[in-house]
Amino acid sequence: MSLWIIYIALLLAAVGTLIVIILGIIGTYLIIVGRFMRYSPPVPSSGKVKNKMLQDAAEYLSNKSGLEIVDLGSGWGTLLLPLARQFPHHRFVGYELSFLPYYVSKFRTRHLTNLQIVRQDFYEANLASADLLFCFLLPDEMRKCGDNLLPSLKSEALIYVNRFVFPNIKPDRTVSFGSEYETFYVYRLDRTGHE
Ligand SMILES: C[S@@+](CC[C@H](N)C(=O)[O-])C[C@H]1O[C@@H](n2cnc3c(N)ncnc32)[C@H](O)[C@@H]1O
Repeated sequence: MSLWIIYIALLLAAVGTLIVIILGIIGTYLIIVGRFMRYSPPVPSSGKVKNKMLQDAAEYLSNKSGLEIVDLGSGWGTLLLPLARQFPHHRFVGYELSFLPYYVSKFRTRHLTNLQIVRQDFYEANLASADLLFCFLLPDEMRKCGDNLLPSLKSEALIYVNRFVFPNIKPDRTVSFGSEYETFYVYRLDRTGHE
């Protein structure tokens, strides 16, 4: 009996150690990527913000077809994957430069013919036909995006922005569950003004 308790304790200790090692590797990867890369670390949208953003976008997409949905830095495919499954009649494109998120999301989305993950800088992409975009980038990148990218979009395109805003541009809607870390913004260029 006491031997069983020792076995179980050893097993729990081994599983615990494995979990700590895995979390350590993921944490180190995110820190290194965030510290040394030129662009945002691949932190996915999560929690209430992710769920509400997806629900809100899904309401907009339902009863329409043939729209183009773009994620500017699609990370692990967190936002595009569930929407592409739900809406086979829309077209989804994720631009992702980071090596690991690109290959992981490519693998996760391999069966979806309406979703394309592209390893390309989104500043070099043609976004003129995008109808709905997602964007979760650091403040400096949001500024760059606001200056260089927004002018090339359709004025009626919807842009869902997680956490960090486009400076000097008023969002059409703000959805908040508390702090700025639990907030997302919806921009529509023909309805937004400059602050
Ligand atoms: C904070 S993550 C957001 C991931 C995803 N959009 C989400 O909300 O779950 C930002 C991602 O954008 C990518 N990224 C940043 N700048 C980029 C650029 N210019 N072109 C392509 N990908 C970029 C980063 O590699 C990172 O994976």
